[in-house]
Amino acid sequence: MPDDIERTVSGIGELAPPERTLMGPGPSDVHPRVLRAMSTPLVGHLDPAFVELMDDVQALLREAFRTDNEWTIPVSGTGSAAMEAAIGNVVEPGETVLVPTNGYFGGRMASMARRAGGDVVEVDAPWGEPLDPGDVADALADHEPDVFGFVHAETSTGVCQPNVAELTAAAHDHDAVVIADAVTSLGGVELRVDEWDIDVAYAGPQKCLSCPPGASPLTLSDAAMDKVLSRDDPPRSWYLDLSLLEGYWGDDRSYHHTAPITNVYALREALRLVAEEGIENRWQRHERLAGALKAGIEAMGLEMNVPDEYWLPSLNAVRVPDGIDDGDVCTALLERYDLEIASGLGDLDGDIFRIGCMGRSARPENVIYTVTALGDVLESMGVAVDPDAGVTAARRALEN
Ligand SMILES: Cc1ncc(COP(=O)(O)O)c(C=O)c1O
Repeated sequence: MPDDIERTVSGIGELAPPERTLMGPGPSDVHPRVLRAMSTPLVGHLDPAFVELMDDVQALLREAFRTDNEWTIPVSGTGSAAMEAAIGNVVEPGETVLVPTNGYFGGRMASMARRAGGDVVEVDAPWGEPLDPGDVADALADHEPDVFGFVHAETSTGVCQPNVAELTAAAHDHDAVVIADAVTSLGGVELRVDEWDIDVAYAGPQKCLSCPPGASPLTLSDAAMDKVLSRDDPPRSWYLDLSLLEGYWGDDRSYHHTAPITNVYALREALRLVAEEGIENRWQRHERLAGALKAGIEAMGLEMNVPDEYWLPSLNAVRVPDGIDDGDVCTALLERYDLEIASGLGDLDGDIFRIGCMGRSARPENVIYTVTALGDVLESMGVAVDPDAGVTAARRALEN
């Protein structure tokens, strides 16, 4: 090996990441079939074999989103890329955009809408609560927005927004285009894009689809796509301009950028797993497995931060016991158990743990392991929890 290369490489060993159990807000554990798909040979992004595979991914994505939208694609990039593609294309400069204040990702919607040139107005709800349909109706009447964005599954708070069809109907009464953030719901929590009349939805692959990040689902109705294609000025991003991406993901299949081939392979395999299981069965599995996790957590003596009516199975927000530093608990779980969970964010910083139960991570063994490890770590820190009661309750719930 030449001297200069040896100098660079010495001390940098072969890649050997620790084997974690991923029960945080994402990424989740990846299925071995998806990892195998990622180690298959590359073909070109315009190879006829890849073009065929693009059709597969689009068809499988439509099934997962429960939509017939022709405009259903994986955006190259993480969930934020799909989010920015949605907002940056739909929102035109000077348009009014209504966004929620009840979580971190509503805030990100607002930032992106501002950068797209939109005038942002807000509908308020506290962190840890969903939007109230009455408040949304009032905000729509007050502001007459062009676009209404909401977060279906708020990863920062563990809230699943109920009454989605009611919100979209109200928005459409005011001719607003509805954008839904489904990053933490697609493939794990009931989501019916067509039936609920959602115009645009985006997601991330690394949550309930249990796929590595890198190619992120996006779907737009024909009406939403018409709005995008009839803009006065192109969106500010060239890379995420859907009118240009149409050339690659639409009928032409002509070059726009080099697609992340391996991520598209992975997404295809992850979506095949969803189709094999059946999307509705998958929603039920998430509810059952996260229900067992919740039963264990509560029986141990801890408290969930959101009531059952809007509990989000894929992301469980658990109150941090008094006098305990949430960061210390997360660190101890990682160090002692190779188990990842996360702290709270923003308004809930220091108040909650965020425990994911997504995709491949939503398995009985992960649930029992998480309840056991959390109980052990908290008990060792002097918290009055009953880990055995937690494990028994989780096990019983899993037997049902
Ligand atoms: C609700 C929600 N929206 C958007 C995003 C952004 O996705 P990414 O981190 O993949 O860019 C996330 C990521 O956690 C999320 O949870």
